[in-house]
Amino acid sequence: MNELDALVDSARAGFAQATTPADLENAKAQYLGKSGRITELMKGMAALPVDEKKSRGAAINQAKQAIEAALTDRRQALADAELQSQLKAEALDVTLPGRQRGSGGLHPVSLTLERIEAIFGSMGFEVADGPEIESDWFNFTALNTPEDHPARSMHDTFYVEGGSAKAPNLLRTHTSPMQIRHAVQHVKRHRAALDAGQSMPEIRVIAPGRTYRVDSDATHSPMFHQCEGLWVGENVSFKDLKFVFTDFCRTFFESDDLVLRFRPSFFPFTEPSAEIDIQFQQGPLAGRWLEVAGSGQVHPNVVRNMGLDPERYIGFAFGMGPDRLTMLRYGVNDLRLFFDGDVRFLAQFR
Ligand code: FA5
Ligand code: MG
Repeated sequence: MNELDALVDSARAGFAQATTPADLENAKAQYLGKSGRITELMKGMAALPVDEKKSRGAAINQAKQAIEAALTDRRQALADAELQSQLKAEALDVTLPGRQRGSGGLHPVSLTLERIEAIFGSMGFEVADGPEIESDWFNFTALNTPEDHPARSMHDTFYVEGGSAKAPNLLRTHTSPMQIRHAVQHVKRHRAALDAGQSMPEIRVIAPGRTYRVDSDATHSPMFHQCEGLWVGENVSFKDLKFVFTDFCRTFFESDDLVLRFRPSFFPFTEPSAEIDIQFQQGPLAGRWLEVAGSGQVHPNVVRNMGLDPERYIGFAFGMGPDRLTMLRYGVNDLRLFFDGDVRFLAQFR
């Protein structure tokens, strides 16, 4: 092998050893740089006789071209390898499932509230809304609840700043204050007819919303929901309460053989009074009774506080627990799950 072929071979080997573009540029300098081997050979030609210059020059040029070609090949090979490794590193797995934008849904208790409003709406009940921060008057006094009633105690009621010692403010412990608020507005609207001895359209209203008590276990949450119902007229009886509530429950649970019981009880604002219990038909609590509402015939003192004559106006009221109805409907055994905000639980009701 002649000297030039050996040079070309050694350049190829040097280039092949370079694994990065920088290595390759260093290797190139050894052959094609200012003081590289080819350049040195070119310089050496000056000393040759004219007739040898031509053939020697052509041979060196050929070697130079071969080295340049090897360099170009190696550059390309390194660039290809670089591209391949980059592609590998940044590879997209197009078979992975996409990132989903979770679709929202109504909270199970909101679904219950919507159902309650729809069912009572179909029975001719209005829907009323009222404040969650209430005065002692609406929450207790107007509802015939005596000064020393245990429900007023700090153990059961969250008191808030803003009221006076005699008339404190509190987070409403039930939706019953809406009985008074709504009835007073209704009576005001029909005052003229009442004063003229004419009869007033019946009061028929539900008032759903948040309520608060110092309470926490599997069937009690410190913030919970209630839905008040009130029907007052000239001839509304306890019998109507039983009919309306039973009919509501049958529609709500889509079951005609629902097991319901009216259990005698006491509330200062109703007389007689009953707690309403429903039996779980499914889930881990099957067979167990759960109280879903308090109810009764509106007490004459409360009718008076509504601005009506208890000799003429009579009716019933109830206050039910939509959270408990939701437990029964879906067979959930701990009501606090509704308020923990765990989407894995809540997503099941979408
Ligand atoms: C009352 O609150 C009365 N105001 C109900 C009433 C209205 C009686 C009108 C007569 C006339 P009680 O404390 O029982 O009653 O509560 C009513 C319902 O609210 C209960 O049956 C239950 O379903 C629900 N409830 C009460 N406390 C909680 C709580 N901490 N967490 C979840 N639900 C509750
Ligand atoms: Mg009760």
